[in-house]
Amino acid sequence: MTSSSAGTDAPRALITGVTGQDGSYLAELLLDLGYEVFGLVRRSSSPQTDRIAHLAGRLQLLRGDLLDQSSLSAAVAESRPQEIYNLAAQSFVPTSWQEPVLTAEFTGLGVTRLLEAARQHAPKARFYQASSSEQFGATKQSPQREDTPFWPRSPYGVAKAYAHWITVNYRESYGMYACCGLLFNHESPRRGAEFVTRKISLAAARIKLGLLDRLVLGNLEARRDWGFAGDYVRAMWLMLQQDSPKDFVIATGVTHSVREFCELAFAELDLDWRAFVHTDPKLARPAEIECLVGDASRARQELGWSPTVDFAGLVRQMVRADYEHLRLKQAPPSTPFDQLALRAR
Ligand code: NAP
Ligand code: GDD
Repeated sequence: MTSSSAGTDAPRALITGVTGQDGSYLAELLLDLGYEVFGLVRRSSSPQTDRIAHLAGRLQLLRGDLLDQSSLSAAVAESRPQEIYNLAAQSFVPTSWQEPVLTAEFTGLGVTRLLEAARQHAPKARFYQASSSEQFGATKQSPQREDTPFWPRSPYGVAKAYAHWITVNYRESYGMYACCGLLFNHESPRRGAEFVTRKISLAAARIKLGLLDRLVLGNLEARRDWGFAGDYVRAMWLMLQQDSPKDFVIATGVTHSVREFCELAFAELDLDWRAFVHTDPKLARPAEIECLVGDASRARQELGWSPTVDFAGLVRQMVRADYEHLRLKQAPPSTPFDQLALRAR
């Protein structure tokens, strides 16, 4: 772990994208490791802080946006981090076809802005860039490793490829400890509701509770290497604790189809997915990635990293969390207030 130069001994970390799935798990991990953690949040008329609400009082929030250089510089100058984790991005692939320029600004150029802020205000800070298996796209090699050529298939993937190479370039140009984690899909009960795994787990739970009667999906045959987000943020931290900066593939090495995810998710609630799942060609992507599967041998050997949750465990965890959450929301109120109200009648 890098040491602090401030009055306190606690190392300091700055996380962009702290309100997202990975940001919330990483903030938890770093706080538990004794870090002073700063999270960058952008202005919104209705802030989305559900995922970090339980960290209130432990996490320090700073205002800033990937589009705004001065806010990034101020956040780095104020937090004086030893470690910077750049997790912020426009991360939903379909939106990148609807908003390709904005995606390039956030997900691509935003990284250069943050690297510049780091270079000028915290040049010794260790920098993590959230690269993606989406960069491999239609590549001919399988499984994908660190040296597999990129062939991105979406404006998001193209923006991430730029972000990846600008991070490598700052490492080579300025000697910064900057590295990229090529992370394959990772999910959790905190996953955004539009991503396919959470869309399925939420729908299965709603169908079981009689709140929904069908689920409409796009390509059921697409295959992804799905892991658990809690495992993947541990790999991010490990990448910044090495003697020298390097890029790593983080993956389970096992691939499954969307159809298989549906089968397991509905079966978890004793439902037959075929009775509820429909497809609509409108949800197909202009350019699809049919199959991704990663080879994380380097991470296993050099970081000592390995996943702790397998595919079946991940599906179970997500479906159970959504089902329990929705069931409790539906349950008739049994608070003392209600009991009092009943007695008074
Ligand atoms: P996520 O849940 O969509 O979170 C994205 C975060 O970025 C949110 O906190 C969001 O803030 C923030 N953000 C978006 N635009 C911003 C801007 N202009 N300025 C400042 N913050 C901005 O994504 P995730 O799943 O946690 O993924 C984290 C990172 O890893 C992303 O870069 C993603 O592309 C990458 N990645 C993810 C996976 C995966 O499977 N999850 C795999 C590989 C790579 P708001 O809350 O305000 O929207
Ligand atoms: N979202 C969604 N919705 N995807 C669907 C649907 C649907 O209704 N039906 C089928 N799919 C298929 C998609 O076509 C894709 O092949 C697969 O399910 C996974 O889609 P997503 O869950 O949206 O994830 P992604 O693979 O496009 O992107 C995620 O993983 C990347 C890493 O490879 C995101 O987290 C990216 O930010 C991340 O970089």
